[in-house]
Amino acid sequence: MSITKESELIGMKNISEVVGTTLKLMREYAKVGMSTKELDEYGGAILKRYGAKSAPYEIYGFPGYSCISLNNEAAHGIPSERRILKEGDLVNIDVSAELNGFWSDNGGSFVLGKDIHNHQPLVDASKHILRKAISKIKGGVKISEIGYLIETEAKKSGFKVLKNLAGHGVGRKLHEEPENILNYRVKNNSERFKKNTTVAIETFISTNSSFAVELNDGWTLVGNKGGYVTQHEHTILITDDYPIILTESNEIWS
Ligand code: CO
Ligand code: CO
Repeated sequence: MSITKESELIGMKNISEVVGTTLKLMREYAKVGMSTKELDEYGGAILKRYGAKSAPYEIYGFPGYSCISLNNEAAHGIPSERRILKEGDLVNIDVSAELNGFWSDNGGSFVLGKDIHNHQPLVDASKHILRKAISKIKGGVKISEIGYLIETEAKKSGFKVLKNLAGHGVGRKLHEEPENILNYRVKNNSERFKKNTTVAIETFISTNSSFAVELNDGWTLVGNKGGYVTQHEHTILITDDYPIILTESNEIWS
């Protein structure tokens, strides 16, 4: 959305603080032996305490308050009593919600406990790439230029990007214009980032796959060629200079 008034900025700051804090607390709460359902209910209770509404649950009819994707799952993993967190799991939590008419979105991947499967390099690449991409975004920069940066950095680290998942505008809705902030360059896309707008920037860095495909449950996405995927996402406000990281309370970078 385009921020034209102080009240809109405050609205975006408030919901971003809520989703960021919820993501951080969920990451800290995750333990070996816990079900992803228990972790999701913990996060759902935090959103409720703030008076915020979970976006996937309220708008999309998703069976959970947050998306929790484990290991081979790339995104939109369904919280379940049968999914028990294990040592060394690659976990992705994505939290998006609404408060007072404003929406914000954020997510992050991490290794639970000891990194016995060596997922950390993939997690670190994704974090590093998100940080670098955001540092280059300001009013007037081409969206395709950032896509190029993400793809190039992924390759440099020995990884790929998913081509059919993307960042997006966010604010008055969860997904709004620009609808596809892709992780690669689309040469004929001349769209540019606009100053004073809010967007969700998200990485999809993968070991083997270039596309996400949906499982029969109608939600869970996995890579078309298997392997692992990491995602890190911030909602930001674009300026003339370095963006304002609205969801910095998630501490996905520290
Ligand atoms: Co998200
Ligand atoms: Co998003």
